[in-house]
Amino acid sequence: MYARAAVTAAALLGAGVLTLPTASAATQAPSAPSAPKHHSPVVVAHRGASAYAPENTLAAIDKARAMGFRWVENDVQRTKDGELVIVHDDTLKRTTNVEEVFPDRAPWNVKDFTAAEIARLDAGSWFSPKYAGQRVPTLKQYMRRVSHNHQSLVFEFKKPELYPGIEQQGLRVLRKEGWLDRDHVKNKLVVQSFSADSVKKVHALRPDVKTGFLGTPAVAELPQYAKFADQINASHTTISAGYVSALHAVKGPHHKPLEIFTWTVNDAASTVRAAGFGVDGIITNTPDVVRKALRDG
Ligand code: G3P
Ligand code: CA
Repeated sequence: MYARAAVTAAALLGAGVLTLPTASAATQAPSAPSAPKHHSPVVVAHRGASAYAPENTLAAIDKARAMGFRWVENDVQRTKDGELVIVHDDTLKRTTNVEEVFPDRAPWNVKDFTAAEIARLDAGSWFSPKYAGQRVPTLKQYMRRVSHNHQSLVFEFKKPELYPGIEQQGLRVLRKEGWLDRDHVKNKLVVQSFSADSVKKVHALRPDVKTGFLGTPAVAELPQYAKFADQINASHTTISAGYVSALHAVKGPHHKPLEIFTWTVNDAASTVRAAGFGVDGIITNTPDVVRKALRDG
């Protein structure tokens, strides 16, 4: 159960929510992708601290770091000319000024724009004038900033069915940026997708990388998913204590119990409920709200 003592201990240990006053403190603090079950869940800033800065921008991951959060989540897609970029929707309409800059290019699909075209877009003004001039980052730019910030990453292949070969390409960028060494693979990276095929491909290409399947498979199907996914990352609205226990009872591809990072939890009551189920991670737009709820119990 969700014991106050455990939460207090976790608050002291800083299970993914330590204040990060200096780079060296960030690197020395314990990271917790495989947090023991009696610890408080890891808190993951969804699309960065997306309630406070424009989602999936460098400003959003900087904001998460400034708030003391090590773990961030993103969404990875591909441009017309083959650059990987960080954006959630498969169109650029909601989170950039693409309609203004390219009025005759409806429906403004990510895959129909070159990297140079996307680099011209403002990805911050829609959120607040304060963030005018933020860009849609390339994966390379994004990884450099996450590395600079000493952060850890839940990396999502978004709509991979639109981008054949994106798994291999994404892993290549991660390797080039130093993210597939032993330390990153063990402590700092999860690669997830709603596409089971995509997660399977990642696992086949790099069996050492921790993977997550986004969804809520039936309990009876969990052993099948456990062949290629270390995590079953289900919406918090779909889970129960029984589901989380059942999941923890199954061993994943690295012979450890399956984990669950649940999403998208943005209020105190849902945080306490999910933590009470024993989830391993909470993915949230409002990491400060989740941290406070975990501390208050
Ligand atoms: O990481 C979980 C969550 O991001 C999945 O949903 O649509 O926000 O990518 P979505
Ligand atoms: Ca996502």
